[in-house]
Parts: sequence; C-alpha cells; structure tokens
Amino acid sequence: MFKTHGIVPITDGVYWIGANDRETDKFEGLWELPHGMAYNAYFLDGDKTCLIDTVKSSYMDDFLFRLSRLLGDRPLDYVIVNHMEPDHSGAMELIRRLYPGVKFVGNAKTAEFMKHFYGIEEGVVTVKEGETLDLGSRKLVFAFAPMVHWPESMATYDPDSKILFSNDIFGGFGAVEGRLFDDAADCGWAVSEMMRYYVNIVGRFARPALAALAKVRTLDISMICPSHGPIWRRDPERVIALYEKWSRQETEEGAVVVYGSMYGNTKVAADAIANGLSGNGIKTVQVYDISRANMSYVTTDTWRYRGLVLASCTYNLELYPPMAALLRLYENKNMKGRHIGLCGTYSWAPAALKEMREFVDRSKGGWTLVDPSPEIRSYPTAADIETCELLGKNMAEAIRDK
Ligand code: FEO
Repeated sequence: MFKTHGIVPITDGVYWIGANDRETDKFEGLWELPHGMAYNAYFLDGDKTCLIDTVKSSYMDDFLFRLSRLLGDRPLDYVIVNHMEPDHSGAMELIRRLYPGVKFVGNAKTAEFMKHFYGIEEGVVTVKEGETLDLGSRKLVFAFAPMVHWPESMATYDPDSKILFSNDIFGGFGAVEGRLFDDAADCGWAVSEMMRYYVNIVGRFARPALAALAKVRTLDISMICPSHGPIWRRDPERVIALYEKWSRQETEEGAVVVYGSMYGNTKVAADAIANGLSGNGIKTVQVYDISRANMSYVTTDTWRYRGLVLASCTYNLELYPPMAALLRLYENKNMKGRHIGLCGTYSWAPAALKEMREFVDRSKGGWTLVDPSPEIRSYPTAADIETCELLGKNMAEAIRDK
C-alpha cells in the first residue's frame, strides 16, 4: 500500500488524505480547540477516482499534494460533497480548476450551496436518497441526513467495504495525526471530544440526528469514517449507541454549577450550593466560573448531567452578561429534560433572578425548577448560606439515580 506524504491507507483502495489543524484557536470562531482539529477527506481509488469531501481552504496544500500523488496522471472523476460547510468544501473551487472534468456529487440542496458559495453550476451530479454512484470497482449509496448538520448534509455508504463516510455525524474535535484509528491509540479523549462536538455543533438538531441514526441502524457497518476526529473501527456499535443516547438527551446523575461573580460574593453562594449537592451524595459536581470557562465545556457537561444550578449577580439592572450569553446558548441548543436551580444576587436593583426565571418560563417545562431560589443582597448571610445548601440538597434529591 501507498505509505508516504501523510497519506494513510484505510483499506484496499481507500485512503485518508485530510488535514490536521493545530493553529486555529476556535472552531466556527466559537469553540476552543485545545487538541487541534482534523478535516478528514478520503480518496477512493478504482475504475473511477473519487474524493469524499475536501478540507478547509487554509489547509488545502497538504491535501492537494496528497491527492495529486494518488492520482498520478489520471483525472479526478468525482467529488462527493457530503456537506457544504466550508470546513469540508473549502477546496472545491480550486479542485474544479485543477481537474476541469470533475463531477461534484450532492443532492438538490447541495447544488444550491455550491452555486452560492463557489459559483459552481456546471459539472454537478444531483442524487436522491438511496441512489447509487457506480465507480466500477464499487457502488456507493447515499443516505440523506438533513440538519445533521445543515439541510444538505448526507452520508455515503460503501457496501463493499462496509464503510460509512458519515461527515459531521460521529465527528469530534482534535487533530488525528498519530491517532487516526480508534483501535491504535488511547481514544478516551476522542469520545469526550466527540461529545463536545456533538453538543455544540449537532446538539440543536438532536431530533434530525435520531432520524439519521435510524438510517444508520439499517446498514451493516465495519468502520465509520467521519469528517472530523478518529476513524471508528474497534466498535462502531458503541459509537452509534452513544450518539443515540446524546440525541435522546438522556442524562446521568451529576450536576453543573455555573456562577457569575464580579467580586466573589456570588461565588460564596455557588460554593454553598455545590457543597449542598456533594454533601447529599452527588459525586459529580462540576463548578464553572462563567467569566472564565469556555462555553463549549459548560454546555457539554450540562448536556451530560441531570442537574444545573445557575448563580448570578446583577449587572447594570440586568443579568450579568456572560450568564445571559450562556442562557442564550442553552436556548439555541434546545436542551430539555433537566432540573435547574437558580440563585440571584444584587446590591441595589435585583434583576438576575428575575431574568433567569424568565428563561425557565420560556422553556415551557423543558427545565424543571427546583426550589428554593435564593435572592441575596450584596453578601450572603448565614441564613442565605443555609438556603443555598438547601437548594443543593433538594437538587441532589431531584437528580439522584432512582
Ligand atoms: Fe464539519 Fe458542519 O461542518
């Protein structure tokens, strides 16, 4: 097999030729990348040559070099466009210039995006759900996954190798050099980063994800090749089951306490709530300072655990801005089925608790409020601390595994 230039053989006639990014600080300008990011693209060699997805435009060099090494003097016949977000489609326009006869394969929605992103209207092959693309040596099948992550998102299945090229689905944060395969490295990190990717990128579309997973369940899969993160071949079933659990918004015993505090006084209240939780048997209590925590970790733990407590100060007659941003994110993610506790503080005009209550009300039962909701002036009194501990105790009882 061909083993140079960063090309990684996956199985006969299938190669990884993607890119690893250790320079970008935040994916989508929002989500921190402490382990970098991978844009996976795959080359299928055979009677026809075929690329599955491309890479982010700023990472084209290595990718195009790898592609050219594999093609040699042959033309590139097809590019399958599973998803048009620029982290996967960024090299399309240059590929069209380098390989003028190439055909871009996607669905009707994909064609709209191709036109508006890159002005590509010629050489587009539009496929329907379940349609096949005959490459001679193999026939690929397309399964649409609308809204996982965009309306045009789809997956490509190779019945011959039983590989599912799933694009964003089953993808995770993290560069993959030296750890492309889940059975060749310690992949504990990868599962955590797959969940963080799921919650922050796909989570809002949990219901469409379940519909896509139902299609996945009809396929005989030996290996999942996503467009981010490692290739899952040790136990694809485990990965599918995790995705189903997250998409059903199933939670675990545990709580997240998030506080917003300018001078540490609200932090005192948050600590009392956290102590109330741990003192009443909750072994996992994750405490975040919203002024410093990266939101993507807060949202991921919130998705995972059954309980959430928000403790926030008031700022200029309104909820403390970082806490307001977090609530906006929770609403965007459409989280449901969790318990929530609230604690507001103020010195001269109470607003934090009121705004957080309005957030709970807007969820129309999505969050179950646990009492009491302490409202504290300036610095917690001994009685306030007792109320905070009681909130922690009541939350512990609400979220404990039954
Ligand atoms: Fe990895 Fe929705 O793009």
